[in-house]
Amino acid sequence: MLRKLLLFLMISLATSVPAQISKDGKMNVFITNLMSKMTLEEKIGQLNLPSVGFDVTGPILSRGVEDKIKRGFVGGVFNTYTPAAVRKLQEMAVNQTRLKIPLLFGYDVIHGHKTIFPIALGLASSWDMNAVERSARIAAREASADGLNWTFSPMVDIARDARWGRISEGAGEDPYLGSYVATAMVRGYQGNDLSKNDAIMACVKHFALYGAAEAGRDYNTVDMSPVKMYNEYLAPYKAAIDAGAATVMTSFNEINGVPATTNKWLLTDLLRKQWGFKGFVVTDYTAINETVAHGVGNLQEVSALSLKAGVDMDMVGEGFLNTVKRSLEEKKITQLDIDLACRRILEAKYKLGLFDDPYRGISEERAANEILSPANRQAAREISRSSMVLLKNNAQLLPLNKSVRIALIGPLANNQRDMIGSWSAAGDWKKAVSVMQGIKNVAPNASVRYAKGCNILDDSSLLKQLNAFGGGIIQDTRPAAQMINEAVEIARQSDVIVAVLGESSGMSGEAASRSELNLPGSQRQLLEALLQTGKPVVLVLMNGRPLALQWENDHVPAILESWFGGTEAGNAVADILFGDYNPSGKITNSFPRSVGQEPIYYNHKNTGRPYAGNVMDKYKSRYLDVENDPLYPFGYGLSYTRFSYSDINISSNTLQNNGSITATVTVSNVGNRDGEEVVQMYIRDMVGSITRPVKELKGFRKIFLKAGESQQLRFVITPNQLRFYNADLNFVAEPGDFRLYIGSNSRDVKEAGFTLLK
Ligand code: NOJ
Repeated sequence: MLRKLLLFLMISLATSVPAQISKDGKMNVFITNLMSKMTLEEKIGQLNLPSVGFDVTGPILSRGVEDKIKRGFVGGVFNTYTPAAVRKLQEMAVNQTRLKIPLLFGYDVIHGHKTIFPIALGLASSWDMNAVERSARIAAREASADGLNWTFSPMVDIARDARWGRISEGAGEDPYLGSYVATAMVRGYQGNDLSKNDAIMACVKHFALYGAAEAGRDYNTVDMSPVKMYNEYLAPYKAAIDAGAATVMTSFNEINGVPATTNKWLLTDLLRKQWGFKGFVVTDYTAINETVAHGVGNLQEVSALSLKAGVDMDMVGEGFLNTVKRSLEEKKITQLDIDLACRRILEAKYKLGLFDDPYRGISEERAANEILSPANRQAAREISRSSMVLLKNNAQLLPLNKSVRIALIGPLANNQRDMIGSWSAAGDWKKAVSVMQGIKNVAPNASVRYAKGCNILDDSSLLKQLNAFGGGIIQDTRPAAQMINEAVEIARQSDVIVAVLGESSGMSGEAASRSELNLPGSQRQLLEALLQTGKPVVLVLMNGRPLALQWENDHVPAILESWFGGTEAGNAVADILFGDYNPSGKITNSFPRSVGQEPIYYNHKNTGRPYAGNVMDKYKSRYLDVENDPLYPFGYGLSYTRFSYSDINISSNTLQNNGSITATVTVSNVGNRDGEEVVQMYIRDMVGSITRPVKELKGFRKIFLKAGESQQLRFVITPNQLRFYNADLNFVAEPGDFRLYIGSNSRDVKEAGFTLLK
């Protein structure tokens, strides 16, 4: 047996490893040779990433870039795309520079390139990793056809505070689900071979902990204990790196008092030494320069600190370009620091195949065939509808009959601009399907009468801010009462009211934190007036964050969360409204009852004074004026059918430290429609050397069941799933009692227990 094993090992070593060595070896020889010809200035030039185009996400704009490219002072650019624009700059790099080193072309391809998919929070709400990966694959195909070879995605920051506008860009509050989403995104972008023309490099961001910005205010300070960091925030970054993400972006916040961008522990000790990351690190937009304001030093000092910490590429700020040479002369950094960074960037170019074909087969024809193709749009429609979450559906108001008389009301009902959401950088809102259009497409026999009903918001200062950054919000100047009256008139003549309300797309995303989570402006008033007509109201929400919907939940019979659903959002909403698709999404952030509960998340600690629901129990961890629990818990979402869960059958009440046990449930579709269900498994570690959360997601499956059908699901539990980082940051499973929960969301679960033996 042993001999067989040895023989097997020898054969596999003889075949696979040398092939890998020779591949890397070839690359190393090529790059060493190239670097031997490079001047110091050219090496530093590789570390420079200016923006060429219109998208500005900070105070500084890159200038004189063409001249810098020709002098070899640019490693890559971002915000340039289309075959013609890319070809123009790439020709400069490969024809007019001394060493003909091609450029990288990066861009924020966040939830689709030109075919826009739902915002990331929506994508995650599908709990469908094939859908998530498919969206990233299509994004990569379109982006690469448009000349790009690098996206600044996925953003995998765990976010638990809905005030933070960038909660829209991530997968929600849970590190386990977030890790699956991160992996799927990286796979989708990069495929299995970066040198293929339709693969683009992923960039995991924002490393690290950006989602924990204090008070949900963007760019704010983060302060976190090591155990929280390791157990609740780091896993998705690590998962993306394990999936092979080629690049990492630093975050704007500080960690342990040191900005991420100058943080050697983060970028070298953790990322490279512990996690084995082999790609390159890029800063966020002018992040090196911003460490001056953090109070870390002057530009020369912070640039040197960043390079030494492990940053390879400087986005926009040119701190490297302008100060690194001086720091070398003054011996504040070494030649090796520069060489390492330069080598990593050249390696990425090599792996992308840019030295073989700097244009990666781009052509106008390929772009025209790929971008916004009918197949891509169809995929967007399917993915969009699977991301939407039915929050309430009293008396089965939905789905609607296709020949119903609809009063379609609301500032987002006949709206294309907002549908594609924030960070839809290359997306063209004019290509988006509005809800009005979607309804006409799906139910051509329905009678639809429309009124705007109110503006999205009434706050003129906010309006000015949003429109200054591309909001394009056209304000109706009629008095609120007049707009509401018009809507009520239409409502009276209809069978059902579909009110499409929510946020403008610019109210979430970067630099879009809010201190209130209600429907803005006079939207509530409009809803009240509509409800008073006595007609049934379906509320379709568009927003980039969990909203505080207690009032709406108390009064409106049906609520569909549609996020910003992308190019095909209107069709997807209509597919759900009329039952062509049975909703299957589940929220991945707890929806609060009130903004004062934020940050709110299901996997919290128990505290020493947990509240059990008795308001006269004064000295408990609770609020005087609102319950502790969220309005809609993590993992929650309804369907047009109903699913029932059997009790959990556990194969043994004890788990050996090298063994496994199986938890089995039978899930039945007991309604009269086919549908999908996300079956979720949670575990609680009852006693630990550090306090443990009241529940942690440890498994999930999205299944399809025909009406009346049942399926038995088995979840295997091993000690590995019970591991956590203890006070010494060792990843351990501690013997003792565990509770196991399986159900349709983090609140409604069946329960069992087992003991992990020593
Ligand atoms: C700033 C944002 O924080 C980051 O997510 C984005 O990728 C860069 N700007 C580039 O646009």
